[in-house]
Amino acid sequence: MTQTLTLRRPDDWHLHLRDGAMLQAVLPETARDFARAIIMPNLVPPVVTSADARAYRDRILAALPEGMDFTPLMTLYLTEGTDPADVIAAHASGLISAVKLYPAGATTNSASGVTDMDKVQPVFEAMAEAGVPLCVHGEVTRNEIDIFDREAVFIEEVLDPIRRRTPGLRVVMEHITTSDACAYVKESDGSLGATITTHHLMINRNHILVGGIKPHYYCLPVAKRESHRAALVELATSGFAQVFLGTDSAPHTQANKESACGCAGVFSASVTMPCLAQVFDDAGALDKLEAFTSLNGPAFYRMAPNDETITLVKGDVLEIPPQIETGDGPVVVFDPGTSVLWKVSG
Ligand code: NCD
Ligand code: ZN
Repeated sequence: MTQTLTLRRPDDWHLHLRDGAMLQAVLPETARDFARAIIMPNLVPPVVTSADARAYRDRILAALPEGMDFTPLMTLYLTEGTDPADVIAAHASGLISAVKLYPAGATTNSASGVTDMDKVQPVFEAMAEAGVPLCVHGEVTRNEIDIFDREAVFIEEVLDPIRRRTPGLRVVMEHITTSDACAYVKESDGSLGATITTHHLMINRNHILVGGIKPHYYCLPVAKRESHRAALVELATSGFAQVFLGTDSAPHTQANKESACGCAGVFSASVTMPCLAQVFDDAGALDKLEAFTSLNGPAFYRMAPNDETITLVKGDVLEIPPQIETGDGPVVVFDPGTSVLWKVSG
């Protein structure tokens, strides 16, 4: 007998859509399964002002194929020059759903990010008062800090101090990769949420480095050792209300990934729902998948969950398309390297 699972339509609380030809090609891969997504603002140049966000939202909607139903939830890229009044007005009008903090130099296209957190404290305070969520790339960037320790150090040195000095600020710690982050979110009050990606639930650092370097598994924060992956699976599949899906699907062309200095980012939009069903099935927690993909995120963002549903079916091994074509060149699709027996029906 085939097994089926019907869920409220999911949302993606951390997504890179890029722009131009890349946007055109990757948007349907998300819009097919997801109703809404938090859209990352790390374009070149970044989406800094409400005017930038409005123009980018219009380009996304113009790229959406006829008949697809998808709502982009826009964000602003926080810089040391961000005007608190612009942020608050953009949020009050419904144009933006969150502000994104990139520590300068932490990841792809983060050069305009924040170096001195004191300079943005007035923005944090205005956001706390108005209830605007802050999405955080949680890694320190100091040279002397080992790349595998950068998330844990960030929690202690940056995130916890920001939250202590800004009571009421609602923060999403994005794409968490460590048991340290899992513990921190579990012991926090409801003002802290966390997202987990598809790939961090399925791969550890051995997948990147054993038997030859696998550039398509390289993203930031970089995948950690197996015990951390296990902690992420345990948290995601527990149903814990402050944790939800943010795929961090981040397309780069194959040429830019398979390079002497390859870009960070895993493109998982096309296969995320089947992969997650497999992870939750393997954990004996299919009954918790809907909370992770479709309920906990809207609750944190104070939005209603979607009314529509999607159905997943268990059967033959999923054939993962090796790549999607874009006007900028092919983009390789995330393949966990293990059998996925689920697919989205229809
Ligand atoms: C993202 C990208 O390519 O924009 N890359 C990544 O490795 N996740 C940026 C980010 O979210 O860190
Ligand atoms: Zn990202």
